[in-house]
Amino acid sequence: MSSSTQKTRVLQVGCGGITGAWFPNALKNEDLEYVGLCDLSAETAAKRRDEFKLPADTPIFTDVETALRETQPDCVFDCTIPLAHTPTALLAFEHGAHVLSEKPMSDTLENAKRALDASVDNGRIYAITQNYRYAKGPRRLKAFLESGALGAITTINADMFLGAHFGGFRDQMKHVLLVDMAIHTFDMARYLGGVNPVSVFCHEWNPKGSWYAHDGSASAIFEMTDDVVFNFRGSWCATGLGTGFGSQWRIIGERGTLLWDSQEGFQCEVEDGDEGFFRPVKQLEVPDGDFGSKSAGHGGVIREFLDAVQGHGEHPETSAEDNIHSFSMVIGAVESSEAKAVVRL
Ligand SMILES: NC(=O)c1ccc[n+]([C@@H]2O[C@H](COP(=O)([O-])OP(=O)(O)OC[C@H]3O[C@@H](n4cnc5c(N)ncnc54)[C@H](O)[C@@H]3O)[C@@H](O)[C@H]2O)c1
Repeated sequence: MSSSTQKTRVLQVGCGGITGAWFPNALKNEDLEYVGLCDLSAETAAKRRDEFKLPADTPIFTDVETALRETQPDCVFDCTIPLAHTPTALLAFEHGAHVLSEKPMSDTLENAKRALDASVDNGRIYAITQNYRYAKGPRRLKAFLESGALGAITTINADMFLGAHFGGFRDQMKHVLLVDMAIHTFDMARYLGGVNPVSVFCHEWNPKGSWYAHDGSASAIFEMTDDVVFNFRGSWCATGLGTGFGSQWRIIGERGTLLWDSQEGFQCEVEDGDEGFFRPVKQLEVPDGDFGSKSAGHGGVIREFLDAVQGHGEHPETSAEDNIHSFSMVIGAVESSEAKAVVRL
């Protein structure tokens, strides 16, 4: 932090669509100041500067290295495209900045590891935005599961079915569902189950009537630690009865089953007696709670990162060391689908 202002000095890199969720949330923090905006398009960056009423003299850059050299930021918010995440992070660490990056961590596992190693070598904080976790529904559910209400978790199923007509680059993209979206669901499965991936078998296909050029649908079976199995089924081209972006979940434990709509809709039944073909069950409520900034979406992710950078907060929950496990699930599912074989993670 600069000693004169005691504000954390942020360089924003990438000023496209998703930054509509970043700027308003970041600007709620009075201990943060933007020292520069960088985008391949100066016009895009200038538009964001004006839209969010940043000081008119906030410098605009079109090259990350120049921006880092001239602004010497405490940290970089990286909202570029996946291909640019690792080069941006490497440059940031080289210039002594911490990095909070949009998902996915990188374009390949090798590049993700390079960036992670560089953060460690340079002693910098490196976190990835998995904003789906930072909401009340998952926080309530996690606390409920940790209370042991279902007993040990054995199986996690997630369905994500949407008939999404994005237009643009996704229509031609390979592995579009896995690479562009599934990280949110995969990361949530790890978070809820408190488990990590061991292996995956995945099948992708492009259903009849798909408006995508490749692989609008995928099914993947993950073997996770603690003998948990995570089943993912999804499609970007399934019209009607959509599940929402957060998926619909069935979580099975030794004592019972829970259904979750990914918001705050829960149904839970657990065993209530030890006789009968089907054992009697009782319904359980998932208690409400106050989860503070952990339920504040992008705002919560940003606050947690600022606290860590300022040295008075915990290490970010979705640090790169943690997130590389979620990212490896995406890369492993793609490899499995291409090889038509089980891939160990
Ligand atoms: N967390 C979420 O829910 C969520 C939602 C949407 C997108 N995203 C992620 O956010 C990232 C950005 O997505 P988007 O929808 O904003 O894309 P976008 O195409 O709208 O914006 C990306 C911007 O980055 C700029 N850029 C690309 N390479 C750059 C570089 N090397 N240096 C500087 N600027 C560069 C582009 O010019 C563009 O303005 C992606 O990684 C995407 O997966 C996350």
